[in-house]
Amino acid sequence: MFTQDKFLWGVASAAYQVEGGYQADNKGCSNWDVYTNDYQVTKAFIGKQDTGNVAINFYDRTQYLQDIALMRQLGVNAYRFSISWSRIIPNGTGQVNSQGVAYYNQLADDLLSNEIEPVITNFHWDLPYKLQEKGGWANSDSVQWYAEYANILFTNYGDRVKKFITFNEPFINLFFIEPLAHNAIENKANPYAISNETYGKQAEAVHHLLLASATAIQNYHQLKLGGTIGITLSFTPTIPLDTNKAEDVQAAMIFDGLHNRWFLDAMYKGKYPDDVVKLHQKYNPTFQVSAEDMQLIAANKPDFIGVNFYAPAYVKADDSAPYNAEWFSTNPDEIKMFNGPVRPEYLYKLLMWIKNEYDNPVIYITENGAGFGELDEQLDKDLVKDPLRADYIKRHIDTALQAKQDGVDLRGYMLWSFCDNFEWLFGYDKRFGIVYVDFESQRRTPKQSFYEYQQIILNLVE
Ligand code: NOJ
Repeated sequence: MFTQDKFLWGVASAAYQVEGGYQADNKGCSNWDVYTNDYQVTKAFIGKQDTGNVAINFYDRTQYLQDIALMRQLGVNAYRFSISWSRIIPNGTGQVNSQGVAYYNQLADDLLSNEIEPVITNFHWDLPYKLQEKGGWANSDSVQWYAEYANILFTNYGDRVKKFITFNEPFINLFFIEPLAHNAIENKANPYAISNETYGKQAEAVHHLLLASATAIQNYHQLKLGGTIGITLSFTPTIPLDTNKAEDVQAAMIFDGLHNRWFLDAMYKGKYPDDVVKLHQKYNPTFQVSAEDMQLIAANKPDFIGVNFYAPAYVKADDSAPYNAEWFSTNPDEIKMFNGPVRPEYLYKLLMWIKNEYDNPVIYITENGAGFGELDEQLDKDLVKDPLRADYIKRHIDTALQAKQDGVDLRGYMLWSFCDNFEWLFGYDKRFGIVYVDFESQRRTPKQSFYEYQQIILNLVE
């Protein structure tokens, strides 16, 4: 059995990005099955259709056992993966699919017998399509749908799995990926353009999601299974693109509210940030939040915060961007990583900010990693040289451990990602793995960054 106080060194993934087997064993259809197959959404972003139908074939036990063997070689003691809701409940609500339940039972057992702790993310962006047709998170019934689904996970896996995560990156999911996917589906001329009204509308969806998270946390605690439950949030510390420009400073503040303060304020202060609420209500006058809702969210805090950090965001005022804050296309730094600038010092600042502002919560870094595309992947016989990623990882771990030394209650670090995989709107064009995957043959080749991470773990584990 795993003790709660062992520092976790792990790698992370998500169901849709790695599993494939999209119709295997009575799995239902998810929103992403439809986005990629029927609407070919990746075409709008990378000019070709990619899907998660096969992905890196992790649904296949023969394949994943080899991957677990490689994880052992790496030296990690934790693996964060997500569950595909449509495998467990093909229609989203009602009938449970025993084959889907069995798959994750086997996976958890296989990890445990390899001394790797399973860390489960209940929801990492793939929603049963039947629920999407009912409005998805915009429908207030989603709170109940999710609570029922989460209970099935707790009762089936909670005896062996001691860490659950209710949601992954609600901001990026609802304010970026979903609107962009819908732009592609609607054939918009600029698939990156998001309106103020869309942000206003998504405020309701994200509120339902936080209520769903709080309800599931409450249920999990009542079950007394002896583990812990958290939520994973994405964070982008904001930097005004031009610090001398008042508009950029203002835009950076708004984006900080939307992305960083929104969730933590709700859970730890029982209140959404006023500046952002005002904007949401300006563009969606029906967005109202009751005192009871906020109380439910604050009364059922997560046991830990999962921090996903890739990069800070340079923010500039731009009235063609929602809420006048452009952040995705602004990186002025020389090194262009897919998720933004390489600035490890902002991970330190972020961790200290959370500690000081929100009562020093338990933190796991649930994702940190670098996407460089083919640029940084030089295949040389049996080694893939990815010096930029190797350097990124080392510097981010150094700074995270410095924050731990300075009082942050950091309990683990999980790298994104073990293998290259399906990167949502950008398909297989963006590689994040420390293991190179030839997507045709499914052959795995550890990269330079794999050996770098292996060495770090080796040197640090007591
Ligand atoms: C965060 C998301 O959780 C994950 O699904 C995605 O692949 C990485 N960021 C990289 O962009």
